[in-house]
Amino acid sequence: MAKSYDRVTVVDHPLIQHKMSILRDKDTPCAQFRQLVRELALLEGYEASRHLHLEPVDVETPLMTAHCQRLAGRAPVIVPILRAGLGMLDGFLELIPHACVGHLGMERDETTHEPRAYYAKMPSHLDERQVVVVDPMFATGGSAIAAIQYLRKQGVKDLTLMVLVAAPEGIEAVLAADPDVHIFTCAIDDCLNENAYILPGLGDAGDRIFGTI
Ligand code: PRP
Ligand code: URA
Repeated sequence: MAKSYDRVTVVDHPLIQHKMSILRDKDTPCAQFRQLVRELALLEGYEASRHLHLEPVDVETPLMTAHCQRLAGRAPVIVPILRAGLGMLDGFLELIPHACVGHLGMERDETTHEPRAYYAKMPSHLDERQVVVVDPMFATGGSAIAAIQYLRKQGVKDLTLMVLVAAPEGIEAVLAADPDVHIFTCAIDDCLNENAYILPGLGDAGDRIFGTI
């Protein structure tokens, strides 16, 4: 059984486990892979958005006033790490259609496995918003740490990382690098191979989403 960690939630609903088994299959074609990433982001996002803040609101029903709750403050922000994170964007936006989107471009060097940042475009007032970073794969943690450090520098206080597959190495690196971030994942896998790919994993998520294998 995978080790458990503080600040890490494994979202293992039966539907998520079922979809993950198809996602991991090397014979799953690109279109189905892309659709599954979107569906998994929606299901996982439901859990990862539990901490969103609410405020009271009175609503007039056809019969009387109902005391309700709605999302409080400025719209939350979802930040896909390009490219593969884009595959999770639409599923999450189905849950929170009024969310803003910040884009962060990161590419892992195939030899050093270090991330190279190549693009960033964020909404305003990040310090007042709840931010969720999405990326299907969380291997060494280098890309996630670079994203978290960038967002902290922009003033982000409330930060969540949502991935589909995490390696223990990445989890430990991110928890050590940031004292507050909470991680949601659908699975914690065994380890990394010599090329820093997750085992058993699902291969290269970006290539499988965009058909660039
Ligand atoms: C993959 C993945 C993560 C990163 C994970 O992206 O989507 O961003 O690698 O690895 P790490 O935890 O060791 O940093 P990649 O750099 O392959 O780019 P892509 O999304 O364009 O395929
Ligand atoms: N990036 C991927 O897409 N897959 C891995 O296993 C590791 C990094």
